[in-house]
Amino acid sequence: MGLIPQSFIDELIARADIVEVIGLRVPLKKAGREYKACCPFHGEKTASFWVSPEKQFYHCFGCGAHGTVLRFLMEHDRMAFPEAVEELATRLGLDVPREGGDAATNVHRADESLYELMARVAGFYSETLARDERARQYLERRGLEPQIIERFGIGFAPNSWNEVLRRFGGNEADRKQLADLGLIIERDRGQIRDGERHYDRFRERIMFPIRDARGRVIAFGGRIIEQGEPKYLNSPETALFHKGRELYALYETRRARSNLKRLLIVEGYMDAVRLHQSGITYAVATLGTATTPEHLKRIFRLVNEVVFAFDGDRAGRAAAWRALQHALPEAREGREIRFLFLPDGHDPDSLVGEEGREAFEKRLETTLPLSEYLVRELSEQADLSHADGRARFSELARPLFAKLSEGVYRELLLTRIAGVVGIAPQRLNELWSTTGAPQSRTAMEAPPPSPTMRTTTQGRTRTSAGRGSLVRQAIDRLVRFPAIAAEVSAQERAGLEVCEEAGIELLRELLDDLRERPVQIPAQVIERWADKPGGDALQKLLQREEIVADAAAAAGELRGALVRLADIAAARRLEALEEKSRTIRLEPEELMEFQRLMMRKKPRDGGGS
Ligand code: UTP
Ligand code: MN
Repeated sequence: MGLIPQSFIDELIARADIVEVIGLRVPLKKAGREYKACCPFHGEKTASFWVSPEKQFYHCFGCGAHGTVLRFLMEHDRMAFPEAVEELATRLGLDVPREGGDAATNVHRADESLYELMARVAGFYSETLARDERARQYLERRGLEPQIIERFGIGFAPNSWNEVLRRFGGNEADRKQLADLGLIIERDRGQIRDGERHYDRFRERIMFPIRDARGRVIAFGGRIIEQGEPKYLNSPETALFHKGRELYALYETRRARSNLKRLLIVEGYMDAVRLHQSGITYAVATLGTATTPEHLKRIFRLVNEVVFAFDGDRAGRAAAWRALQHALPEAREGREIRFLFLPDGHDPDSLVGEEGREAFEKRLETTLPLSEYLVRELSEQADLSHADGRARFSELARPLFAKLSEGVYRELLLTRIAGVVGIAPQRLNELWSTTGAPQSRTAMEAPPPSPTMRTTTQGRTRTSAGRGSLVRQAIDRLVRFPAIAAEVSAQERAGLEVCEEAGIELLRELLDDLRERPVQIPAQVIERWADKPGGDALQKLLQREEIVADAAAAAGELRGALVRLADIAAARRLEALEEKSRTIRLEPEELMEFQRLMMRKKPRDGGGS
């Protein structure tokens, strides 16, 4: 068997849920934004084992055990590394690829043939589309170009009750597979015709293949091309397909861009396809369901910025409100959740078709943040010009607020809501918690202290003044928000070359690696560095509680630190040259360097402009 590629391990860490995996083995209790339990690695009576869903990392303050979900499986279940990888992959429905290895070692044989059958049927639909003038014309009328039809594997199911059945259901076993995949449907006893017990589910429909993260077809959505009901017919839930979990076009999105920053969530197949066609290749669609909490978990594993686009009509607004409710538990500092309401009568498909990519993306810049949407919506239900109305506003906001997890974001929203109600935030919080709020908290059940609040009683690590060295700060931000590596300019990176601060090598290496092969979450960085020098230091950093507002703030801090490091290095060099020039004459190159460094120094010392 070959090596497991690093990219696959990156993906596993990104998609796995450490809370779920550990939660199956250790009874975890939610404590603020994290989870805690009695440590499974040493005997104890009070819980000092913490699991962070954000960092995808666990840590015991008693015995010091710590690591990613893979490390946990290895230590707890005593698995070897490949076994742990296999275990996680199986949970996620993925096969472990092997570099130069051979696929015959695959453990998912049965599934494999289902995927294969899906692929063959999808191929058949594509061929049918190529031959069917009317279906092709329909797609042309809908504005789809051949290239995009191919990229999404769009096809057509012929107008027949048994074409798929006859082509792919040669024997009983094949028919069972087809039926299991929802491609054919079994007739009622009395209605068996011509000896055929089954008939094709999809007939005379444009077929949109739904693919999993690895690009395998796991289901279809079929759109009727004339009038008729239902407009879209989807595959049922099958062994391969769980509707509430999948997002249409996610595979195509991930394939289109290597460092994904945001996702645009739309409602329809056509919306997603048309957006991709116009160059907005980060659009994904929910499959005729509301956005589920599971969707959101998956989405935030991939990006920190999400824009929901909804039609401006009533149905769209209702869907948006549902999305907001599901999104609240996932809202927190570092994440951006926004809502875009389209002009009445438009969906993303028609709008991007009409105004094009640039205008559409402009709209994405002026979307409503979740907090503002919440306030706006509730304000419409309560007349804020009266005390009564403001009291009602507060009551409407309260159950929504209760869905938020502890943290800075929650505090900020409290302040915002209190501002509308017209009382002090603390007072509002008190009122809410003393009058039997949905998740009321008495003084006795104060929020659990976060791990570091207990370990750093001197309170020194909390302020920016005491955060340790610049190098350390830069590394810290990179580990917490690995995606920000992409925002460092080549010049900023180059400034580190002459730097001699302690730890600079690790910083350079980390920065280069993350720029070259971007990842999104801390645990991915930790896993990559697990066996490299500096790996322990990275884990230690991550265990500290740091308050960084969001990725943008972290990027700002990182770049600030890099600039200052470069300044310090330049100042050192200047000093050295000055020192040297006092005793001997500088070489011409040294003289030039000296002048350059002086120039660099000037504007700062001179003050003013
Ligand atoms: P829409 O009715 O908005 O359709 O449904 P659409 O995507 O704009 O399609 P066109 O432009 O008329 O071709 C949005 C989504 O809801 C699901 C589908 O996923 C669809 O893309 N849906 C809709 C169904 O599953 N079944 C239906 O009958 C209708
Ligand atoms: Mn539409």
